[in-house]
Amino acid sequence: MTIHHLRRDYRYGSLTRDELPADPIALFQTWFSELRGSDLPEWFEPNAMTLATHKSTGGAACRIVLLKEVEPDGFLFFTNYQSSKGMEIDADSRVALGFYWPILDRQVRVEGIAERVDPEISERYFRSRPRSSQLSANVSPQSEVIEDDSLLQRLVDELDAKLSGADVPRPDHWGGYRVRPNAIEFWQGRPSRLHDRFRYTKQSIALKQVGKGEGPSTNTIWNWQLERLGP
Ligand SMILES: Cc1cc2nc3c(=O)[nH]c(=O)nc-3n(C[C@H](O)[C@H](O)[C@H](O)COP(=O)(O)O)c2cc1C
Repeated sequence: MTIHHLRRDYRYGSLTRDELPADPIALFQTWFSELRGSDLPEWFEPNAMTLATHKSTGGAACRIVLLKEVEPDGFLFFTNYQSSKGMEIDADSRVALGFYWPILDRQVRVEGIAERVDPEISERYFRSRPRSSQLSANVSPQSEVIEDDSLLQRLVDELDAKLSGADVPRPDHWGGYRVRPNAIEFWQGRPSRLHDRFRYTKQSIALKQVGKGEGPSTNTIWNWQLERLGP
């Protein structure tokens, strides 16, 4: 099998400094809206993203998960907290996300810190899922070895019969993570590999304030530093 001849020139557009807002989440939302407005093939999931974690044995691991919310302070996905990724995040919350949107010749990379969301947020999203997915979340020992090939379907059928139409409870070990970004890079493919890359890096600025009748206090505000990177 030869692969090396596969090559595509990226001609969709460019990314210039004057198009870049102060807040990278705003640019992410603009890019995501443009993606949704494009003529996407039915099979393409624009919210699929790579999630990279640190393995406790050393090295890195990655897998695809689905982005379910973009908020001013982060990117939300849902999973099993007892899965490999869940345990990896418990041990080291530094993660990275990667999006590839070939229809617009774009990539977005996020580096940040993952934290569990409030259980109410997980509960709300869990309730919005199809019943079959709720059942699967209950029975699947995600990332564990399963010796018996028919086990999962049997467990789903048993739980479904036991509930006899009642709401499927959300397991405590199933819920969301919010990735709070420290850095977000936007990559726009250009012809001849002269791609545009801009990286936003979060910086803290300590402001000294003088309050009435109190000593000076320090307040931290966050600012995004913007840099062009070599392609
Ligand atoms: C398109 C796609 C979407 C997926 N979405 C999720 C998701 O939102 N949450 C999840 O836990 N796993 C999702 N998976 C499965 C993960 O890639 C992975 O197999 C699973 O989470 C176990 O990963 P781990 O063993 O590293 O924890 C998705 C897989 C694909 C291909």
